[in-house]
Amino acid sequence: MFKIIAKDNKARLGILKTAHGELKTPFFMPVATKATVKTLTPEDLESCDVKVLISNSLHLFLKPGLEVLEKHGGLHKFMRFEGAIFTDSGGFQMIRKGFFVRADESGIIFRSPYDGQKYLFTPEFSKEVQMRIGSDVAMMLDYCAEYPASYEEAKRSVELTTKWAQKFPKNTKEQLSFGIVQGSIYEDLREKSAKDLSNMDFDGYGIGGLSIGEPKKVMHRMVEIVDGILPENKPRYLMGVGSPLEIIESVIRGVDIFDSVFPTRNGRHGTAITSEGMLNLRKAEFKNDMQPLDNECQCYTCENFTRAYIHHLLREKEILGMHLLSLHNVCFMIQFMKRLREEIEQGNLEKFKKEMERIYGT
Ligand code: GUN
Ligand code: ZN
Repeated sequence: MFKIIAKDNKARLGILKTAHGELKTPFFMPVATKATVKTLTPEDLESCDVKVLISNSLHLFLKPGLEVLEKHGGLHKFMRFEGAIFTDSGGFQMIRKGFFVRADESGIIFRSPYDGQKYLFTPEFSKEVQMRIGSDVAMMLDYCAEYPASYEEAKRSVELTTKWAQKFPKNTKEQLSFGIVQGSIYEDLREKSAKDLSNMDFDGYGIGGLSIGEPKKVMHRMVEIVDGILPENKPRYLMGVGSPLEIIESVIRGVDIFDSVFPTRNGRHGTAITSEGMLNLRKAEFKNDMQPLDNECQCYTCENFTRAYIHHLLREKEILGMHLLSLHNVCFMIQFMKRLREEIEQGNLEKFKKEMERIYGT
């Protein structure tokens, strides 16, 4: 299912086989929480060579519900995306307002913000929901502690996550199952969580509970600890990360998979990710700028429009501005990952990192 093809120190180049295609790692997944990468059509995604995205099974379960999805023949057909789809379990929604009621050994109780109804998500039920949605990779039901978390709370998150991991169905046809390492910012707990899960037959491993407010240095330290313990021959997925710099820093530490709202959220807020750095297109300096967003980019936005036009759309609050920026940003991240894979292949990662630090560093 996962094969490593080349390495540059700890960085790995690999292939992950899924029921909807073979994915070259390291890869980045745009986020489609509610079965849409915000503002982008499937054709837009295809034009950017997006081969995989991540949706959220708790959101989809609550709305539109499994019946609607099944009537369409599953999530791929519902949203007309033919690439691979990961689904998150809902464990992360523990720390997001509006869903979480409580957790115990049996699982998590969520309350629908739409009608107030309560549902018990056991590990088995979480997997069943994700099977019925028809995603290619299911993330286990995990207990994500908030940041900051006391040692006691973090310990409980690891204990419950390990218990749920044992119950989460694995080796299912057509769908891979990924474990999720927790442990907040406590080294011994991260170690324990990674060890506990390593002994189970997951197809890959998420690293969760990070990028939620802790210092970047701490996040990198946690990734280092976990990557030293997880089985070499399984993909590692740093959940909710990130920007080009964070991705490089993590790839250097052995991470293979990423997802983040970074390109789409920035796009909706008027910021372009470019080979010259982050550009806020709302700024007056772009009012007369005849260049494309990025001279090195061949996306639809960059081939057809000037910075001045996008500046105008944003200032007038025209939704096309958000769309064109999101499209460019997603394309940019996909191209960035291609370049990253080439640099790994050529053993050039350290040099590439320095170049990116010059562009995106503070
Ligand atoms: N997305 C970002 N972080 C997490 C996490 O800790 N758990 C889950 N399930 N999803 C995430
Ligand atoms: Zn572009």
